[in-house]
Amino acid sequence: MTDADEKNHAVAINVNGVRRTASVEARKLLVHLLRDDFGLTGTHVGCDTSQCGACTIDIDGKAIKSCTILAVMADGSSVTTIEGLAPGGGALHPIQAAFHEHHALQCGFCTAGMIMSVRQLLKQNPNPTEREIRHNLAGNICRCTGYHNIVRAVESLASGAHRHD
Ligand code: FES
Ligand code: FES
Repeated sequence: MTDADEKNHAVAINVNGVRRTASVEARKLLVHLLRDDFGLTGTHVGCDTSQCGACTIDIDGKAIKSCTILAVMADGSSVTTIEGLAPGGGALHPIQAAFHEHHALQCGFCTAGMIMSVRQLLKQNPNPTEREIRHNLAGNICRCTGYHNIVRAVESLASGAHRHD
C-alpha cells in the first residue's frame, strides 16, 4: 500500500444505475470524481464559488451542485448525472428534447445543470408558472440565452401544456 492509498478513502456510489468505486482524497469534490475518475464529463464546472449550477446532478432524489459536496460525503448514495437521462445514446429525455425543440441552449455549457434542475422542479411541481420556473432556475446561470427559451422549454413540459410554438 502506498502513502497515497493510506490517506485515501474508499467510496462506493451508485452512478446512473451502476455501482462505481474509487479511492479518493478527503478533499476531492464529487464533481471531480464524476468527471476525472468516472469519465462523466457532461457535468460541468463553471465557477469556483458554488454559484453557476453547471455541476448540478441528482443525489438521492435531490438536485445538488456537485461542486459543493465532497466525494466522501456521497459514499453510499445514488447519483444521476446528465448521462443517466438518455443512457447509451438512446432517445433524448423529454426535458432534453424540449430544450432542443425550443432552442434553449447556445454554447451548451450550462445545459446539463439546467436540465437536472428542471427535472427536480417538474418532479416537485409538474405544472410550474413562469415565475416559479424562473425562481427555480435562479441557481443556474446561463451566459448565452437570456433564459427566455429555457423558460419556454420548461413551460412546454408542464402537465396539460401542449404548446410547441
Ligand atoms: Fe458548481 Fe459552479 S461549478 S456551482
Ligand atoms: Fe451557453 Fe447556457 S447555453 S451558458
